[in-house]
Amino acid sequence: MSNVPNRVIGRPRSRSDRWQAEFPYDWEADAAVSRRQLLRLAVLTSGALFAGTLVLAVLGRRDDRRRGDPKPIEGAASLPSGEALYFEYPGNGDQAVLLNLPGTGLVAYSQKCTHLACSVYFDAEKRELLCPCHDGKFDARTGDAIAGPPQRRLPRIVLESRDGQVYAMEEIP
Ligand code: FES
Repeated sequence: MSNVPNRVIGRPRSRSDRWQAEFPYDWEADAAVSRRQLLRLAVLTSGALFAGTLVLAVLGRRDDRRRGDPKPIEGAASLPSGEALYFEYPGNGDQAVLLNLPGTGLVAYSQKCTHLACSVYFDAEKRELLCPCHDGKFDARTGDAIAGPPQRRLPRIVLESRDGQVYAMEEIP
């Protein structure tokens, strides 16, 4: 047997022929999508993305205040300084926390963590609201997120005192 490599008989294979052999491509099918159709598709897709973004922007600017009927918070008026009282607002099952902070007075927040909605609880010593799920922390005076994954403050609950009774008036995101 000879060690001489096989030679191509006739025309030597061009670079394009080799490419065609390795990546067979039907050039006739290439005409199935014209440049104009591709451009039209790109314009329509861009338009759809723009419209979607616009809708999301409008929804994001909506006033998300949750107004409920004023609801009395039982035991709020006699809550000792430095203590917390857990209650439900605005609806049944919506957990909320009322704090009586020394020097600040009564403040209330939704207990729902703004990261992934675990329930926060009050740490009286540090005066923080802590989320046990991912160590999120919120300032008890303002509700601002101060550590961990949460980026947004806790929804605040507006309070009002009438005839010695404390009411939850509305929740503000
Ligand atoms: S759910 Fe509260 S920190 Fe993640």
